[in-house]
Amino acid sequence: MTRKIIIDCDPGHDDVMAILLALAHPEELEILGYTTVCGNQLVEKVTANLAKVLTAIGKSGKIAMGCDTPLHYAPDPQPGAHGESGLDGPILPEATVKVLDKHAIEFMRDVLENSDKKITIVALGPLTNIAVFLKTYPHLRSKIECITLMGGSIYSGNILPKAEFNIYEDPHAAKIVFESSIPIIMSGLEVCNEASILHTEIDALQGNGKVQDLAHDILQFFSKYNRDRNKDRSPLFDVVPIMHLLHPEYFTSQKFPVHIEVAGEYTRGMTVVDLREPRDPNTLNAEVLTHCDRDKFMKVFLDALIQLDKN
Ligand code: RIB
Ligand code: CA
Repeated sequence: MTRKIIIDCDPGHDDVMAILLALAHPEELEILGYTTVCGNQLVEKVTANLAKVLTAIGKSGKIAMGCDTPLHYAPDPQPGAHGESGLDGPILPEATVKVLDKHAIEFMRDVLENSDKKITIVALGPLTNIAVFLKTYPHLRSKIECITLMGGSIYSGNILPKAEFNIYEDPHAAKIVFESSIPIIMSGLEVCNEASILHTEIDALQGNGKVQDLAHDILQFFSKYNRDRNKDRSPLFDVVPIMHLLHPEYFTSQKFPVHIEVAGEYTRGMTVVDLREPRDPNTLNAEVLTHCDRDKFMKVFLDALIQLDKN
């Protein structure tokens, strides 16, 4: 059965990899549209990046630009990880794919109001758009199948010792989402670190087709951080929620109570995953992915790039 999805994202190198995987599986995932959010870079930049990438691979798509700032904190773009453009590395064409003259929140409203089936929201950036949507159109919450998101962690951190960037950027939005009672699937740093691509797998992409060359150029820039630290692999963070939709059998998961720390010099954006037992079933607000089979994961991902080059 085909699942209808909206991809909320901040492209972002790994966001693009997730979108490529989804585009290679139209039978399983029907992408109703893309909403963009301030995160890796300012929302104008990440929106332009998405339009250029779809143009580069010859795909169309509905793009609606979203919130340009977190609910309470200032934007905190990450040029160190994604460059000044938010997608440094590849040479991208001028976009011919147009951005809708409609805010992401209104686009989400229109899609959910007009759908006869529930929609899955795939959140690959800060949760600002989704929080504003839930607050603005609470009657449409029942049209959401689930929110599967890349964000948070069980015990580690990247932007802070115990906080992951997407949650850190807008913890107030994350709190709204995690307390919404909508089913949440959380792909945190631990499972994302297991879903890492070998730098030799990146190098082998070059010269095999337009899409694989684009992925190569994007991942060469994205993996520099880890290559410079003598690591042999880089996490494909945002690919994880999409891969889980396609192959849940590649993962293990467990439901936990998950609370969001909205402020704190060292803990802003921490996902407090309560591991204590016994647990009250009424408090289990998130299914947390814990492990994945990296080799099966990576084969499907690399095959997806090959498939897109065949199309
Ligand atoms: O912490 C990783 C997340 O932050 C990913 O979504 C990446 O794209 C960045 O947004
Ligand atoms: Ca992202």
